[in-house]
Amino acid sequence: MTDIRTIADIKGRVINVSNRLPVLIRKHAGGARVERSSGGLATALDAGWRDRAGVWIGWAGTSPTQHIEPLLLKASQTRPYTLRSVSLTEDDIAKFYSGFANEIIWPLFHDMPSRCNFDPEYWESYQRVNRKFAKAVAETATADDFVWVHDYHLMLTADAMRQAGVRVPMGFFLHIPFPGQDVFEKLPWKKPILKSLLEFDVIGFQSDHDRSNFVSCLQGLLPEAFVEPGTPYPQVRFQGRHTVIGTFPIGIDFEEFARQAAQPEIEAHSAEIRRRLSGDTMVLGVDRLDYTKGIPERLKSFRLLLRRFPEQRGHITLVQVVVPSREEIPNYKHLRREVELLVSQINGEFTEPGWVPVHYMHRNLGREELLAYYRAADVGLVTPLKDGMNLVAKEFCAAQIDERGVLIVSEFAGAGPELRSGAILVNPNDFAEVAQALHAAALMPIDEKRNRMRLLREIVKEHNVQRWIRSFLQAVLDAAGSKASDRDDAGSPYALKLRRDEAMPGVALVATALSSHVQPRYQIGRDAKLRAIGRAAGED
Ligand code: ADP
Ligand code: F6P
Repeated sequence: MTDIRTIADIKGRVINVSNRLPVLIRKHAGGARVERSSGGLATALDAGWRDRAGVWIGWAGTSPTQHIEPLLLKASQTRPYTLRSVSLTEDDIAKFYSGFANEIIWPLFHDMPSRCNFDPEYWESYQRVNRKFAKAVAETATADDFVWVHDYHLMLTADAMRQAGVRVPMGFFLHIPFPGQDVFEKLPWKKPILKSLLEFDVIGFQSDHDRSNFVSCLQGLLPEAFVEPGTPYPQVRFQGRHTVIGTFPIGIDFEEFARQAAQPEIEAHSAEIRRRLSGDTMVLGVDRLDYTKGIPERLKSFRLLLRRFPEQRGHITLVQVVVPSREEIPNYKHLRREVELLVSQINGEFTEPGWVPVHYMHRNLGREELLAYYRAADVGLVTPLKDGMNLVAKEFCAAQIDERGVLIVSEFAGAGPELRSGAILVNPNDFAEVAQALHAAALMPIDEKRNRMRLLREIVKEHNVQRWIRSFLQAVLDAAGSKASDRDDAGSPYALKLRRDEAMPGVALVATALSSHVQPRYQIGRDAKLRAIGRAAGED
């Protein structure tokens, strides 16, 4: 019997499967080059997967080209795992990636059904491309491996992998929210998706809220599936199979972010940013340019702040960095125009000699530059309308090594409930509330800032990406082990025992509202002091 302390304890390789690889091949006139993919999934998994051999199967972000393989080989040499690409044709990119994944599932799962384009051709393409990914796994997996499929692009792969003869334990993690039944049931292809998901051994969600939405959808839309209570997670019995349904909130590589943020070059760069910006308070927004991130709403809140609190003019500056994303999709094109119009309107209304209220950057920042901005900022403003987790909120905290930044975070991000005891929690649709939070953050006494940030950094450090990987894989092994133990308890590589303390404390520190089996451990009092008030379930 083996308990997983690090991912290295697992026998066999881990085969991660996601639409996007952690690297992106970008074509240019002279050939092609490799860039780091943006997006939470790629950033987190690439950082957390350090000590275990394996394979990462995914798309390199470009249409087929002969340049890919040598570049991927080179990128694999600096990693413990091999990158294997699944190539997508122009038609796949348009109908599977832009179409089904990002014009149907993305808006629907973020509770924005009016943005969906339910084109039936997209569904055909989604099925075809999921089979393509399943085939790549079938060609790669050997008997001792584990397959871990990520995100909404690949919800049909379990069924296709089983049909292709893959017999190893398989887990699926959804990085984005799962909607309530009233929204999910609008999807014309809801039943095949639910059924295919139940071919996995474990399905993981970011929060208990997403998990309970999924269970409600099963109960309401697939009555043949039986949900059975289990510890720590429920199981679903369907067509002779059992699937564990768990909660595994994702984290970041805290130590690595904090270590890099402390480097003298980053400190110097961050000081330079501050020197060049006028004003006392620098507010920072960093996002993919996506309508779920609430960027226009954030700009309107900032404009309201400048209108309602004229004493802040000349003293507070918003730096908004957006990385271009999904630019072929009409909703994203409109969003860019809307954001750029708002930025110019605000700057037109308020700019004074020596002070520009909004600094707007439309590009991907390198890691060093990103860290310098995180360090330079006084306020991290993270206000998505809906978000599975939001790693920017956690990265901002990790980079705040001098503990003087304030985090303002949306209650509708997965990170909101988890970080609520140290952050200022806001409703991003309430512009007055966000403006008030910005005003409070700008005036917050240094002791309170420090106490809050200390608490936030403890939470982010404890719930890091390594723990997320460990707890998910432990659940997959445990699920497979309980099946294998019926056959051959001693000989099976999967006959493992679940360590309850490591199982999934997940949101244990603070998210009492989300999780009934945990209690908060720390709270900030009215005097802004940090107090220990209890223990997480399963802790000594
Ligand atoms: P999502 O996965 O929806 O994009 P997350 O906040 O979870 O949202 O993750 C975003 C990731 O992309 C973070 O790791 C962040 O550092 C990175 N990122 C976002 N914007 C930029 C940018 N302009 N330049 C570089 N990296 C960015
Ligand atoms: O973290 C959520 C996520 O949806 C990933 O699945 C996705 O790769 C990422 O955001 C960025 O989106 P895209 O791959 O479309 O650029």
